[in-house]
Amino acid sequence: MPTSPRSCLANLKPYSPGKPIEEVQREFGIRDVVKLASNENPLGPSPRAVQAIRELADRVHLYPDAAAADLKDALSRRLHLPKTQICVGNGSDELIHYLGVSFLNAGDSVVAATPSFVRYYAAAHLADAELRLVPLDGDAKHDLAAMEAAIDDTTRLVFIANPNNPTGTIVSGADLRAFVERNQDRCVIVLDEAYHEFCESDDYLTSSTLLEAGHRVIGLRTFSKTYALAGLRVGYLIGPQDWVEAVERVREPFNVNVLAQAAAIAALDDEDHLRKSMEVNRRGIERLSAILQGQGAKVYESHANFVWAEFPFETAGLCHALLRRGVVIRGGDIFGCPNCIRVSVGTDEELQRFEQALEEVMKESARA
Ligand SMILES: Cc1ncc(COP(=O)(O)O)c(C=O)c1O
Repeated sequence: MPTSPRSCLANLKPYSPGKPIEEVQREFGIRDVVKLASNENPLGPSPRAVQAIRELADRVHLYPDAAAADLKDALSRRLHLPKTQICVGNGSDELIHYLGVSFLNAGDSVVAATPSFVRYYAAAHLADAELRLVPLDGDAKHDLAAMEAAIDDTTRLVFIANPNNPTGTIVSGADLRAFVERNQDRCVIVLDEAYHEFCESDDYLTSSTLLEAGHRVIGLRTFSKTYALAGLRVGYLIGPQDWVEAVERVREPFNVNVLAQAAAIAALDDEDHLRKSMEVNRRGIERLSAILQGQGAKVYESHANFVWAEFPFETAGLCHALLRRGVVIRGGDIFGCPNCIRVSVGTDEELQRFEQALEEVMKESARA
């Protein structure tokens, strides 16, 4: 039918975001809802970023700088990479989409892990590419050997979320380096480092380190998490110049808006806010892990701003019971792991609410 949408769209599942606070307020009549479902920064944005937004509020009738020159300069100084190796996006989500558009032809294959970030799967489906999903290993880490075995002559893109969403795990630096060395000329290896600044492990090998050493990989980062600008939508991609040029060809000219560009530059400059965000996160991960372990869950070591926990039962009922108490978390079923939950770090008060609600729900279910 000439009027039908492309057949590959049938494979695209609509993204299921964390339930918005307003919806929970309406549905359950609860005023003080705690949302620990979208890996946002509970501290809120840097005051410097807020100031930058205020200063530009009366200039939004003008188009943004299509080249995002100031933001790229700031990133270039920080990353020690030339601007020609940096591309900015309307969130890193958009850059994942651009990678699919830039590199995939129908019939190519994409290798990614499961459970992992679902936008990689969408990029493959949209291009009518074959999606090869490789289960994480027993420690909820990417199984690089199995991913390598899934690569063949048709493979154009390999996505590795490092740290991974939803598990918070990282791959060993030595294993990743060896994987890159063996496969960088066979396919485009994308290291999605959305939680980069939170990760303090000595075993964390970054895309920027690999690029500086002359390796060919793509790195993806975002201002949504540690820099707390999720609502503005700004992220960036780094890589070898020829690959960045390919993505630049498909980039919408004004994809990062005026306020987002200015706020991102200001946020990059605010070391103090970054340090505080990391401290709050460190404390939050410890506390969340202890709360969940205290309730009998297996908790995986997280290098991000959320914890992945596995219970000896299906968690849909638990998530719903928490929701009725005004606490929103992520159930594992959307990731194909019905016994798991993912809980984002919140403020001390928010974690207190989570602890109390979880205790009540667990007691209730023990009685039932
Ligand atoms: C692994 C990973 N990549 C990318 C993103 C997208 O981030 P954004 O589009 O807000 O930059 C997320 C968001 O949760 C994520 O977890």
